[in-house]
Amino acid sequence: MFRSPSVKRIFLSKSYTAVTRPIFSLSSLASSSGRLDVICRCIIQAFKTRSGLRRNVEFYAVLAGPPGPNMVVHVTRNVSLNVLYSELTVADAIAKSMVSGYYEGVRTFEGNLIDVLKIIGSRRVLPILLHEEGADILSVREEYHKRAAETITIALGTQEDLSRRDVGLLEGAGFMKYSLGPKSYLASHAVILVNYYLDKMLERVEL
Ligand SMILES: C[S@@+](CC[C@H](N)C(=O)[O-])C[C@H]1O[C@@H](n2cnc3c(N)ncnc32)[C@H](O)[C@@H]1O
Repeated sequence: MFRSPSVKRIFLSKSYTAVTRPIFSLSSLASSSGRLDVICRCIIQAFKTRSGLRRNVEFYAVLAGPPGPNMVVHVTRNVSLNVLYSELTVADAIAKSMVSGYYEGVRTFEGNLIDVLKIIGSRRVLPILLHEEGADILSVREEYHKRAAETITIALGTQEDLSRRDVGLLEGAGFMKYSLGPKSYLASHAVILVNYYLDKMLERVEL
């Protein structure tokens, strides 16, 4: 027996350094954008597979670098494959969206982590926080079925971990820590790994 192959996944990350306006250069993305490139790579890995795009994924990134105020990048299920071609095309789409509010499935608006949590809501959602000191990621499956969840929200850091304050905020909102093991992975690799585990764990139900 197979469960729906489309367990909805919402990724949520926050960068304390990524710029909040389109003031970066695509020819020196990492150094001019406050590491928006890390977010761009995470977005690509959240959506793209060898055979196309995952249509059960959304990605929220809170940008909290200069000049402020905080901006939210929301990559919707309607994002185009062209946008996800490379980290430069993702960054370019974010820059265009920062000007007009929306570009090819990428929405941007002023907001912070609390605003995003309100948007995601909590009904039939299993919120998890990727953290090296958490419970084994394989135990997500049990919690998912216990709650009859329809959506998994996955919070993670970028080139640095989420701050203690934001971890506290997420825990207060019901996020539980899960670990991919004792090694610290790049954020984009953590996205790949969590997609892999969720594919294996949740898309097939044992009888
Ligand atoms: C590059 S890491 C952040 C910095 C890193 N923890 C360090 O010590 O330098 C990016 C994010 O990926 C996730 N991550 C990386 N490795 C992980 C692991 N083994 N288990 C769970 N999450 C992990 C965490 O959310 C982490 O904040």
